Amino acid sequence: MASTGKVKTVWYCTSCGNESPKWMGRCPACGEWNTMVEEPKAAKASSSAGGAAGRARAFLDASDARPEPLESISLSEDNRFSIGIAELDRVLGGGMVEGSMILIGGEPGIGKSTLSLQIPLACHGLRTLYVSGEESAKQIKLRAQRLGGEGSGCLVLSETLLENILAQAREVKPQLLIVDSIQTIYSEGIESSAGSVSQVRECASSLLRYAKETSTPVILIGHITKDGTIAGPKVLEHIVDVVLLFEGDTKGSYRILRSIKNRFGSTDELAVFEMTGSGLREVSNPSEILIPMHQDDLSGVAISAMMDGTRPFLVEIQALVSTAAYGTPQRSATGFDSRRLNMLLAVLEKRAGFKLAAKDVFLNVAGGLRVTDPACDLAIVASVLSSNFDLYISPKVCFAAEVGLSGEIRPVPQVERRIAEAEKLGFEQIYISSFNRSDALKPRGGKISVVPVADIPALCRKLFQ
Ligand code: TYD
Ligand code: MG
Repeated sequence: MASTGKVKTVWYCTSCGNESPKWMGRCPACGEWNTMVEEPKAAKASSSAGGAAGRARAFLDASDARPEPLESISLSEDNRFSIGIAELDRVLGGGMVEGSMILIGGEPGIGKSTLSLQIPLACHGLRTLYVSGEESAKQIKLRAQRLGGEGSGCLVLSETLLENILAQAREVKPQLLIVDSIQTIYSEGIESSAGSVSQVRECASSLLRYAKETSTPVILIGHITKDGTIAGPKVLEHIVDVVLLFEGDTKGSYRILRSIKNRFGSTDELAVFEMTGSGLREVSNPSEILIPMHQDDLSGVAISAMMDGTRPFLVEIQALVSTAAYGTPQRSATGFDSRRLNMLLAVLEKRAGFKLAAKDVFLNVAGGLRVTDPACDLAIVASVLSSNFDLYISPKVCFAAEVGLSGEIRPVPQVERRIAEAEKLGFEQIYISSFNRSDALKPRGGKISVVPVADIPALCRKLFQ
């Protein structure tokens, strides 16, 4: 407890928040290089010893918690409530849980503030305290007007001092607290500046304590660093219950909200939004926007029934095959791994006898999407063959299978969900591997017919004859 006049400093790892008394080139906790920064030591009073986990658990220490038998714990699952934005509810696992802390991360300008302000606007009468450390109350009002909402029940506070935010929150007792952004908030107890590791950690732990003590859900907005991690320490991800990442090209209009951690639901969920002049619009059926309308007789186009997480998507794959003007043929892929394209072309060459060595091949995934699902292989092969022969594939046909090195067509997981999605969107035929489990191949009652194919020659026969 010796307190000297000199400010004590410690070194923090910006990646995991680990504390060290001296500088180190490599963080011993997470193994990252060159991540230690020097900051004034956090005041003892604000947190007991025990590091990040200790702070996060402090709210439990305060209560008189006792062990109780697991079977006698009553489940009050009703403490979820809907926040009026169906897609967001779904990503959260069916609504927001009381007392939970949600972190929404994303690059600047992606729409985090817009989304968080749309929640009180969509939820009429929900007493929300919207705290902004980035914008003034007037700016928030202007944004709300632009979003076309009344926002009855929404209180706005432009503040950056944590202690004031908590005092105001305890006074107005909101049903939802939104803090935009955690990097602009600072606590008096800590000497370093806002956005530093110790500030972010301390502010997040205090807000977590508030959330658990008052059963108020808290939404934190967090900025993302260049390398894609949430700025500030990783401990932030450990402290919160849910981490949602907002992704997308800030120049394009579509945004994807992905759940990367969820203590109350699946992490495979994602939601698609469109940024419009009046805020974010939910895109409840992403396949509809991803398949542009085109004429029937366009060769080189094939549709793939792919999955992103647990969500089936139908995407259009476009290929252009033309005679190479110079010796070495060009191969280029947009939205797809070009090495995998080269592999698929080599398979076509070697196993199915197509003379593609003297051809330029260009591949594009429509809608600016990037696909990694191996189930796209069959659609890619089909689009290349379609362009090569200049024979079009009916737009009512789609594909879902992987292509192996020996030219065999391999099954992919969740084929039933892909078939169901294609059927829902009015497709009449779906090509899958004949090595799928027999129940997937069974004739279905619905409008879609399932075409099993075993290899590439079989695909050509069925598709182009
Ligand atoms: P914003 O929510 O401020 O992003 P973040 O908080 O993640 O930094 O959104 C910023 C962008 O969204 C901005 O470039 C303008 C655009 N935008 C619209 O296109 N329409 C709208 O209605 C709003 C409010 C913003
Ligand atoms: Mg913002």
